Amino acid sequence: MTTPQTPPTALPVRSLEPTGAEVPSTVPTHWYNLAADLPEPVPPHLHPGTREPLTPDDLAPLFPLALVQQEVTTERYVEIPQTIREIYALWRPSPLVRARRLERALGTPARIYYKYEGVSPVGSHKPNTAVAQAYYNALEGTTRLTTETGAGQWGASLSFAGALLGLDVEVWQVRASYDSKPYRRAQMEVYGGICHPSPSDLTEAGRAMLAADPETTGSLGMAISEAVETAAKDPAAHYALGSVLNHVMLHQSVIGQEALVQLDEAGEGAPDVVFGCAGGGSNLAGLTFPFLGRNLREGTTTRLVACEPAACPSLTQGEYRYDFGDVAGLTPLLKMHTLGKDFVPPAIHAGGLRYHGMSPMVSHAVHLGLMDAVAVDQDEAFTAGTLFARSEGIIPAPESTHAVAAAVAHARAATEPEVIVLGLSGNGVLDLPAYAAYV
Ligand SMILES: Cc1ncc(COP(=O)(O)O)c(C=O)c1O
Repeated sequence: MTTPQTPPTALPVRSLEPTGAEVPSTVPTHWYNLAADLPEPVPPHLHPGTREPLTPDDLAPLFPLALVQQEVTTERYVEIPQTIREIYALWRPSPLVRARRLERALGTPARIYYKYEGVSPVGSHKPNTAVAQAYYNALEGTTRLTTETGAGQWGASLSFAGALLGLDVEVWQVRASYDSKPYRRAQMEVYGGICHPSPSDLTEAGRAMLAADPETTGSLGMAISEAVETAAKDPAAHYALGSVLNHVMLHQSVIGQEALVQLDEAGEGAPDVVFGCAGGGSNLAGLTFPFLGRNLREGTTTRLVACEPAACPSLTQGEYRYDFGDVAGLTPLLKMHTLGKDFVPPAIHAGGLRYHGMSPMVSHAVHLGLMDAVAVDQDEAFTAGTLFARSEGIIPAPESTHAVAAAVAHARAATEPEVIVLGLSGNGVLDLPAYAAYV
């Protein structure tokens, strides 16, 4: 017997007005911008032709004005529109939990807290910026958004935001993840998004990459080229980036601002160390920048650590220089730690960490010695992820296991009752094939 196919329902009508839903006062009212507190300004993004700092006009074909302004602002706080706060309130504030069973399993005197972003409808921190980006685009009349995605968390998040705010979303997913994570694509489609494997034959950039290597597993840099090219050719479309850019770091600051308050409520002072995984840098920045801002303003000494995969070590092995954000060279030049735009990382399970570059703000902070970086081997990451699941119950996203591994190593070596905060950027319930190889 065949099941009748129901035609997909249309997206809900676009509505950007607040619904009047109650928003708890614990949902931040402003985003925090580290640029206001840095001792030296973040080097500007450059026009690839002139190598002069970008002007707002250069970015207008890709982004709405509000996001262009957020990209360059040095204001310490940017107000969060009420419609966005209402949507945030569906899962924010996200929990900060003391990992007592993990502490016991490790036999550590340290107190370990994890800030859990996997409670969002999509399962990661990515909706914090997806909702903001979809909102400003819709407000300025964009009807279609294009983007790249690695593991699929970002593509699913933008599809989710597009559904709530009435935008069409088209996603290029890195081939390695498209093949290995089919449910993430289904998730995008449930939200009304369209998902293509990258490289695809739908764009000039994709066709050139396929001609160069028909068997390529793809990379985030390739998928960005395809999404940027598509948006640039369609006047009704804009491009949305899930990490790297300054406005994304800004939106993610809700994570760390909440964590500061929650630690206070737990009776803790400034933590000794905060670990976050780093692909393009957004969950790391979101969690750590409010702590870094306090270090810079008030002289606290919380140590901040970026945890990247040993297979794609931009911060620990890359050069700090201007490079393109994508393979085809369609993006502005960004000053960042980079392995080179043509670097194709091995097809590790943490698809969201397979990026050749790094957020210019995170790179700058590392360059100034305000933040440390470590590289974590995949086996070590999954061993720690499995230990976390067996002691705390949550199966961390493969990306997040890199932060778990670094925190676990630190806690094992601890001899004092120090305070460790760990960013659990997402859950891994749609990444179970990756864990299956380890259990
Ligand atoms: C759960 C999760 N954590 C981390 C990342 C890495 O991105 P970022 O460094 O921008 O936080 C991703 C990217 O897809 C992700 O899905």
